[in-house]
Amino acid sequence: MSGARLLMREEFRPTECRAPLSPDSARDVIRGGVEVTVERSSRRVFRDDDYAAAGCTLVPAGSWPDASDDVFVLGLKELPEHPAVLRHRHIYFGHAYKNQPGARELLRRFTEGGGALLDLESLVDEEGRRVAAFGYWAGYVGAALAVLRHRGRLSEPLVPMSRENLDEALRAEAEPSRALVIGALGRCGRGAADALTAAGADVTRWDLEETRDLDVTALLDHDIMVNAVLATGPINPFLTVETLRRPRRLSVVADVTCDVGSPCHALPIYDETTTWRDPVRRIGDLDVIAIDNLPSLLPAESTVDFAAELAPYLAELSDSGVWRRASAAFTAACASHDLNRKEDHV
Ligand SMILES: NC(=O)c1ccc[n+]([C@@H]2O[C@H](COP(=O)([O-])OP(=O)(O)OC[C@H]3O[C@@H](n4cnc5c(N)ncnc54)[C@H](O)[C@@H]3O)[C@@H](O)[C@H]2O)c1
Repeated sequence: MSGARLLMREEFRPTECRAPLSPDSARDVIRGGVEVTVERSSRRVFRDDDYAAAGCTLVPAGSWPDASDDVFVLGLKELPEHPAVLRHRHIYFGHAYKNQPGARELLRRFTEGGGALLDLESLVDEEGRRVAAFGYWAGYVGAALAVLRHRGRLSEPLVPMSRENLDEALRAEAEPSRALVIGALGRCGRGAADALTAAGADVTRWDLEETRDLDVTALLDHDIMVNAVLATGPINPFLTVETLRRPRRLSVVADVTCDVGSPCHALPIYDETTTWRDPVRRIGDLDVIAIDNLPSLLPAESTVDFAAELAPYLAELSDSGVWRRASAAFTAACASHDLNRKEDHV
């Protein structure tokens, strides 16, 4: 719908350098007839001037609460706690549709302010497939960290990097290793397999078919394992404390899913995610890496790919099936908390 107005806000989280739009993708959205405003940011991976050169209007960080009601506010991660009520349509990862902590309070801010959450995770095609996701680079970085740990060359704390630097580290001092990716046909799984290949590892790829009748002995006969499955319900564990007592090569696990504390957790050998500061948890002689914001470590590549997937849908804001489905997901989430929406928002 030409004439729509979009404002990309600065991310609230100080370590977040990614953005939902790159300068090139912003140019494409503008070509679609959408007016794009960008809040200035010194931590975003692309420079403000590049957005201006692409045709975006720059405004100071933190301007969005004052934007007029019709503006769509675009971001990636959480909003600040103020303003208390939200009157805009916000496009970002709200993490509020699976009854996560704070979900009801967030949804209430929207229903009380008359705004709406068009959650990036609920932007799906007719078959329910996500139209834009960060998975590939999450898998790539998760597997790369596992390789570096296996070689004893993981520097801590982790800091955002470029793919060039990461690949250089993967190619340096390569040594033979056997690596297994579970969930290999998915986005994260493909990224993981590519990083392991770049590192010169011998890569085994398993997906649903190979885990139906799990061969634990074969699993343990790898140096590195990357768990990249998408589990939507209870799952038979791939590793348990008991299986770890068997003879094994396995010494490093990267759990890209980070499904700790849920019935979807396929690796109940650990119960807390790890961080950029302390990326590795030692469980006996096994190292586990479970970082829940992996794509942020490769902000440029993550932003470019995600933005390229998202931009065509932003260019047709808001009159298309994707946005109607996102609006319906918001309505359903509000209803599940007995919160009423004022009206349909797209
Ligand atoms: N840590 C991070 O920063 C980060 C970032 C993005 C995604 N993720 C997580 O990574 C996971 C994968 O996301 P994705 O976008 O790649 O999903 P996806 O849907 O693209 O791929 C998931 C794959 O897992 C396979 N799978 C499901 N159950 C399986 C099983 N029991 N055994 C073997 N394979 C199975 C599916 O067939 C599919 O090929 C999700 O849990 C997601 O939340 C983590």
